[in-house]
Amino acid sequence: MPSTPNESSEGFRPGTIAKGKRKRVLSGMRPTGPLHIGHYFGALQNWLKMQEEYDCFFFVADWHALTTHYADTSLVAENTREVAIDWLSVGLDPAKATIFIQSQVPDHAELHLLLSMVTPLSWLERVPTYKEQIEQLRDKDLGTYGFLGYPLLQSADIVIYDADFVPVGEDQVPHVELTREIVRRFNAAYGPVNWKKARARALAVLEKQLGIESAGGDVKSETAHQRVEAAMHALTLDHRLSLLANAKVPMVEVLREPQAMLTETPRLPGTDGRRMAKSYGNAIWLSENTDSIRAKVRNMMTDPQRVRRTDPGRPEVCPVFAYHKLFSDAATAAEIDRDCRTAAIGCVDCKAKMADALVRWIEPIQQRRCDFEAHPQRVWDILDDGSVRARKAARRTMKRVREAIFSWERARGGAAGPTRATKKATTGN
Ligand code: TRP
Ligand code: SF4
Repeated sequence: MPSTPNESSEGFRPGTIAKGKRKRVLSGMRPTGPLHIGHYFGALQNWLKMQEEYDCFFFVADWHALTTHYADTSLVAENTREVAIDWLSVGLDPAKATIFIQSQVPDHAELHLLLSMVTPLSWLERVPTYKEQIEQLRDKDLGTYGFLGYPLLQSADIVIYDADFVPVGEDQVPHVELTREIVRRFNAAYGPVNWKKARARALAVLEKQLGIESAGGDVKSETAHQRVEAAMHALTLDHRLSLLANAKVPMVEVLREPQAMLTETPRLPGTDGRRMAKSYGNAIWLSENTDSIRAKVRNMMTDPQRVRRTDPGRPEVCPVFAYHKLFSDAATAAEIDRDCRTAAIGCVDCKAKMADALVRWIEPIQQRRCDFEAHPQRVWDILDDGSVRARKAARRTMKRVREAIFSWERARGGAAGPTRATKKATTGN
């Protein structure tokens, strides 16, 4: 890969992860449809807080959408714009966070490929979402290479930015765990500062383990040497890694191990009381017009035991009350809580109050949405600009990764390798 003048002028230090002042956060969403208020309280609210404190990278995972929607890609681009508008409308700020599109940083794909070389198939097959989704989405034929690699592509997304934290929902934690395992394996494989020395040391350890007698000094019988080499060759990568660890070979951290950041989220049920999900038809969209929101609220499920107006209710089991807690002020929520239990308020009035509060909350979001919808080019500009920034960071990591794997610089006699002079001196041997 030719490097830009800018990159080569930085000089090359193998295996160093740049330490910024702020910790890095990375997260993504698949562009499979508009976002609902459950997404807001489950993820976006947390992203908004994080953009103030961390160096945040948020991206639309269009390649991930492809892993399940490859047969119909007609909505991916549109949904990408919609998701971006949802993000910007709730207040994600391109001046604070890097907001971008995955496929505009093709370096993710290169890292995915390189990670795939050290990733055992069994690790991917045992990811819980894999078999589950294949079962759930039977109509989609997910017996593809791309779908199996879904979590590995996610690993590449994360580590290409040296992310410290990955805010995700519980379902995604196994993907971050897999990422950590892959990073450990990758670092163990490509972390040794000097492979030749590492190999020599590992061979020495192996020799001891095999109990091969050296013939004294450095001279070993050829067959003994061959036996050690053969044994080394026969080792699985995992054995080789523990051998390197035993040999106390100097190692560098090529990739950073990320940590999942589980969000403490208030549970926001759908309008029918179940988990809010597009497929249940129980969602309220961030982009939904207010008449439609009010109609949905009127039809919301309430405490099923409150049949007559005079029956006392149980706010703790009522989804309408769960919404009051989020959208109404604390005093109103306390009042509703009391009046529901004594049947002082009826469900119709209670819902109307809640709808007012919800609409008040959502109006400024929709105002911003209106602005972006009127100027879609602004949205694309923000995504393009963020993608350029993201790409710079990604390319820095890739340079380090390529060097760790191939030692190109060393071979070319660059800063990290032997100088021309020493090379000359050794060619005579
Ligand atoms: N798999 C995530 C989801 O379905 C989306 C995603 C892709 C992601 N790459 C990521 C999330 C990297 C966090 C980090 O929600
Ligand atoms: Fe739910 Fe409100 Fe009816 Fe109580 S009064 S059951 S909180 S809708």
